[in-house]
Amino acid sequence: MTSNETGATAESAAEAVADLCGDRELVVVSNREPYSHDREDGAVVVDRPAGGLTAALDPVMQRVAGTWVAWGDGDADREMVGPDDAVAVPPEDPAYDLRRVWLSDEQVEGYYRGYSNQVLWPLCHLDTAKVEADPAFWAAYRDVNREFADAVLDSVEADPVVWFQDYHLGLAPRRVRTERPDAFLAHFWHVPWPSWDVFRAGPQYEQLLDGLLANDLVGFHTDEYCRNFLDCVAAATDARVDRSSRSVSYRGRRTFVRAFPLGIDARRQAELAESDAADEWWSSFREEYDVDPDAALAVGVERLDYTKGIEERLAALERLWEASPEWRGDLTYVQKGTESRSGIDAYDRLQDRVAAEIERINDRFGTDDWTPILALTDHLPEAGITALYREADVGLVTPVRDGMNLVAKEFVAAQTRDPGALVLSELAGASEQLGDEAVLVHPRDPVGVADLQRAVHAEDVFAWLESTFETATAIERGRRSVREPDPRATDD
Ligand code: F6P
Repeated sequence: MTSNETGATAESAAEAVADLCGDRELVVVSNREPYSHDREDGAVVVDRPAGGLTAALDPVMQRVAGTWVAWGDGDADREMVGPDDAVAVPPEDPAYDLRRVWLSDEQVEGYYRGYSNQVLWPLCHLDTAKVEADPAFWAAYRDVNREFADAVLDSVEADPVVWFQDYHLGLAPRRVRTERPDAFLAHFWHVPWPSWDVFRAGPQYEQLLDGLLANDLVGFHTDEYCRNFLDCVAAATDARVDRSSRSVSYRGRRTFVRAFPLGIDARRQAELAESDAADEWWSSFREEYDVDPDAALAVGVERLDYTKGIEERLAALERLWEASPEWRGDLTYVQKGTESRSGIDAYDRLQDRVAAEIERINDRFGTDDWTPILALTDHLPEAGITALYREADVGLVTPVRDGMNLVAKEFVAAQTRDPGALVLSELAGASEQLGDEAVLVHPRDPVGVADLQRAVHAEDVFAWLESTFETATAIERGRRSVREPDPRATDD
């Protein structure tokens, strides 16, 4: 097994966070919460989202004991908080506070389903035709961002270090900055940042840039997104953009813009791939679906989102079985599609179309002994997904646009046995790190996969945390000592 060549671990990442924070409190702010409480058969159960970000930040938060502010969307969330709307987590060994923000159905409609996912999401993924610029969406986004900012301000006494996550919270930094001029504010934008001609298709571009430029540090997955962001700032505001230091001077402050490609906990993924749970899941899966051990297996795992290229992929597979009949019976495709953002027309329609296409293709080519596409819609345990990756000959990660795509990295890290090939879209951020090896890898070429694995392990989630906080510390030290940024922070 390869190891993380940067030497970053959960412990060293936590140290980098502690270096920046010193005595100040760390506040992480995200739309999704790391723990939710739900009622099942009358009892309260704790759910932990499987998402990479929450899984990675949780151990760090446990070490630095800060506060995490997030939307409380579990149906038993309100029962579990104290008068300050906070609950100590993890439930079995409380180490930090989860401060919940409550949203009404109307706010969820306007802020989450509306502005976040029908304006910013399509805009950032270059699908301007899907942008629904309803003024009510914007009003809700503004209100909810104010509520998140107020929850941050209520949770801390002195000047905190605040780390905002993602496109749901573009305006919150400005409100926190106004109230706490000396706080250290950072923001990581998990989706692509589009070029100026696309970004300007959203009518509120000035307000969004004004919100984000209240941060000391803004992070993106790739250099391309950083450049696009700086282009937008230069075109839309009167800020001074210094491209050599990748910084922006605006309203009397300086904001640094840096690429921090998000990784996964690659070591954990490799261990999970070799676990008994993965073996057991795989045996029962093979039995249930009568998987032929000699046939090739391709796998695709994603939320059912129009950016993931699922329909295009199904069309490509259909062409393959049509043009090369020798693959019928010899290549099975497993599609794990998780229902996502239901209630938004574009997502509801996509789910219907994908289900219909799978049924049609299976009817067209399927036989008594072979189903071309196995569509898995039920919840899959993590070990099951990892087993699928491990056993697959091909991982199909073919989004039409994707900020990074952690599935590509999970697939590679899980290749602990007979390695499969990663077919990766060049329009995924992950292609900046994995693209050469992915396109060069032959399905039976273990050397190419080993190179991919080295990249995934070397640039894992702890390396991402450490580099974000080392950069933040350099900026903060420079700011505090000479009122000018530390030159180290300007080295790209
Ligand atoms: O890719 C952006 C992102 O916010 C991810 O961080 C997350 O996994 C995904 O979208 C999930 O979206 P939602 O919270 O809408 O289910």
